[in-house]
This record gives sequence, structure tokens and C-alpha cells, in this order.
Amino acid sequence: MLKKIHPTYTNAWEKLLRNYKEIKKTHLKDLFKDKKRFEKFSIKFDDMLFDYSKNKITGTTIELLLELADEMALEKAIASMFEGDKINETENRAVLHTALRNFKSRQGKQDGVDIHSEIEKVRKKMKIFSDALRSGGWKGYAGKKITDVVNIGIGGSDLGPYMVCEALKFYADGPEVHFVSNVDGSHLAETLKKLSPETTLFLIASKTFTTQETMTNAYSARDWFLKKAKDKKNVKKHFVALSTNTEKVVEFGIDKDNIFEFWDFVGGRYSLWSAIGLSIAVSVGYEKFEELLKGAEAADIHFRTAEHSKNIPVIMGLLGVWYADFFGAECEMVLPYDQYLHRFPAFLQQLSMESNGKSVARDGSQVTHRTGQILLGEPGTNGQHSFYQLIHQGTHMIPADFLCAKKPLNKMGDHHEKLLSNFLAQTEALMVGRTKEEVIAQLEAANVQQADARKIYPHKIFKGDNPTNSIIYDSLTPYTLGKLIALYEHKVFVQGVIWNIFSFDQWGVELGKELAGRILKELKEEKAGSVHDCSTSGLIKYLKKR
Ligand code: F6P
Repeated sequence: MLKKIHPTYTNAWEKLLRNYKEIKKTHLKDLFKDKKRFEKFSIKFDDMLFDYSKNKITGTTIELLLELADEMALEKAIASMFEGDKINETENRAVLHTALRNFKSRQGKQDGVDIHSEIEKVRKKMKIFSDALRSGGWKGYAGKKITDVVNIGIGGSDLGPYMVCEALKFYADGPEVHFVSNVDGSHLAETLKKLSPETTLFLIASKTFTTQETMTNAYSARDWFLKKAKDKKNVKKHFVALSTNTEKVVEFGIDKDNIFEFWDFVGGRYSLWSAIGLSIAVSVGYEKFEELLKGAEAADIHFRTAEHSKNIPVIMGLLGVWYADFFGAECEMVLPYDQYLHRFPAFLQQLSMESNGKSVARDGSQVTHRTGQILLGEPGTNGQHSFYQLIHQGTHMIPADFLCAKKPLNKMGDHHEKLLSNFLAQTEALMVGRTKEEVIAQLEAANVQQADARKIYPHKIFKGDNPTNSIIYDSLTPYTLGKLIALYEHKVFVQGVIWNIFSFDQWGVELGKELAGRILKELKEEKAGSVHDCSTSGLIKYLKKR
């Protein structure tokens, strides 16, 4: 089991505090007097370059952060996860999403079950099914080929597969995939508007098969289908379940043969590698789905075997801790200069914030340090014309990851050079900024009157000194995407270990679910009533007068 100590009790923490006091006074651009910074602080991993030289760190900072990782027993924690120890202690579960993409060393049992043969069995089933859908071998009740697949799921049963299907759209050559998550009926209604029951298949994606949003959408989708298909027997050809809960699936009326199983050791936000990824296999083909898994496997091997000083997720995780706990940064951004990754920040929000948004340490005590950061992001260059103003000139320090591909998937004039120039310009501007002297010189060169210049110049100063990482990959293939996602998964893991919190449960989502259940009754039933504060009661009354 993992060592349970608070990070603030470590020797490294004290030393890091001292290091922070020195570094906070040094502007990032001054750290670049060291001409070897780029070589010192960048890591090559296959087709990927991770440049972290534009961070407020020196060699000593990194040494101390690595010391902190040692004191928090990171090495042991990594081994514990991969070996299938029940590190999700509050749910008494192992955390083995890495087993889903383990092609090289297939051993390991969970509670006496050979999980690798179970995993392989489901993968085979996914291949057969996705091949049949794509080739037209699988026909709907009316004898027609399936043209549209709707994944109904929420949270990890939506964000992961949706993000990947969008990221791999360039390779999509199967039935069109759609994603419905919100319990707001408009989401399903708008999706179904364009579809025909004869040629549509639904993937009901839910680990528990009890999630209110998913079950509500699933029942409404079934009603829509049966309105046309009439006979309940036809459901078999059009409804498939991706779940760990066979009993509930059968209760819903889905045929046992149409269940794609996964297991408790796969957390919702880590489930795109499991049967939850079926929509990906349908869209781009099973082979590409497997390439995605193999990319993730490469990242797993890197994480397990690379020295911590050359280990991308370890360094990423430690930098996050450095900014959250020492600089007090509340937010981090992920900014993909790759349109295909437009859902990547949304996916990472669940990954990071549902995992590390905790304030109770592993021993049940309240933490006294800062944990999970708020993660935001949008594709560049869109963000530049929106919220970058606040990063450049606001009062917050917002560490940001910039991601881009060396080669574009779609060659079009000089679009890619323009995209890259923006990527580079932003990371440079955030680092160097623009001084008062530079602004005044610029105003003078533009012949601005002295009185006007004096008034304007403070508004044109850029503080700079904002840290960024640059992650560059050759081009966005399924393999590279798999790597990228897994690197971020492991970054989140590293941070959970350092912060001494449990990253694999999510009790914080329960209270709202419970109260919604109670309030639903009150909204539906005339007389039902329970005690609320006057605001909630007032709102309920107001909404009931529809
Ligand atoms: O409510 C949070 C959550 O449990 C997530 O962790 C999960 O990804 C999502 O709900 C969906 O759960 P399920 O796959 O069981 O429907």
C-alpha cells in the first residue's frame, strides 16, 4: 500500500519553499541567459517533443521536485497501480485501465480472474461487431445497413470516446457517430431529427447502467425507435450496451449477446480504452482503435521505465504541483493548436478535476496544501481572440500547455505555417512580455504625441513571466493520440500521489445526484414537499407554475 504522508511534512517541501522565494523574483526571460536551457529542459519521446524550458524553474528546482517525488514514494505508487493493488481504497478497487492496453506483458489476475484473457475476449467481440457494422454485414430490422451510431452516455462514457472520435475524424470512414449526453431532451431530439430508426444503432454506454441522464436518454431513444419499428424483438438489432452491470442491461431489454463488458477496475474517466471505446472502432475501424491502445501502451512503458528526470508525466505532474502549491496558481490551461483536439480540454477537465478535486488526505485528515487545479482550454488560435488577454495582462499566473503537430493532416496553402507561427509567438510572448521601455520606443516610432504616449503606455505593457510547456508531435495519428492521452492520465496520477489524495474515486458527485432525486419527486407530484431553504423552495414553486 502507498505511504501515507503529507507532502508538506517532507524535507523537500521546505527546500522548495526556499527555492520558490528566490525564483519568484527572477523573470522567466532572465532564466534564458542560460543558453542550454532548451536542451536541459526538454524530453524527446518517439515522435514527441516535450519542451518545459519556459517554466519558472532552475536545475535545483527540478532536483528538489524529484526529491519530493521520492519522499512521497512515487516509484512505489506507480508499481502499485500497474501491479493491480487496490489503490482505489475508498471503493476497494484496483486501478487497471493500463491492462486494457497491455499487449506486451499479458499476465496478472484480479480476484483470481485472468483479466487479460477477459480483456482479449471483449476486444475480439468489438472487432467482429465493428467490422460487421462498417461492412454492412450487420443489418437493421428493415434489412438496411446501419448508417448512424448514437453513443448515449455521460462523463467518462461520453467525453473520452467523443473526444477521440473528433480527434480521429480525419480517419473516419465508418457509419457516422453521434454523442448524446445531456438529460436536456433537446440533445437527443436534435440528434434524432436527422436520423432514421431503420438505419440507426444505439450504444448505451454506462459503467453502472443506473446513471439518470443515460437511462433517461436510452428509454426515450427506445421509444423513438419502437414508434417506427413496433415489435420489441427489433430492439436486438439496434441497441447495444457497454457496461459492467449485466443485470441492469438485461432489465432494460438489451439482448445478452449485445453486451460489451468491462470491469470495476476501469474508472469511468479512464474507460475509453475499454468497450466504452466501441464508437471509436465503429468510426475509424478496429485496427486504428488498437493503434490508439498501442500508443497508450508506449506511454505506459515510458512512465514505468524512464528515469523520473526524463519522464514526461512525472515532470508534467511535478510542474503542476510547483505552480499550484508554491505560486498559488489556481488554474491551468491546455491549448491545442490542432483543431482535431477541440474536445481534448473538455476530456481533461473530467480526468484532472474529477480525479484530483479532493481536500481530504488519504488518512482522512483535511489537507493543508492546494490540490487539483481548475483546467480550462480551447483550440488555438480561437482562444487568442477570446481569453488570452487575461493570461497576458490579467492578475493571475496561468501555466499553460501548448500542443501542436509538426505536419498537418490537411494541407491547405500556408494555414499550417500560420498556425505554428501563432503557437510559437504566444509561448514566446507569454515568456518575455513587453517592458515599459519597449512600449515607449514603439509609440515613439509610431509618432504618437508624448502626452498620448504617457497616457497609453501602461496599458500596453505585458508582464510576461508566464510559464508554458510545448508539446509537439509529428502528426495526429491514432498511435500518437493514444500516447498523448495516457501521458496526461499519468500526470494526474503523479499529482494525486504528491498531494496524498485518492485520485480514483469521485464522491463529490453524489450529493447533487441525491438531492436531484428528491427534488424530481417534488416537481412531478402535486403534494410532495420537503424542507428546503427559502431560495430553493421559492424556485421550486416558481418552476412548478409552468
Ligand atoms: O457522476 C460521475 C460519474 O460517475 C463519472 O465518474 C462517470 O464517468 C459518469 O458518472 C458516468 O457513469 P456511468 O458510466 O456509470 O453512467
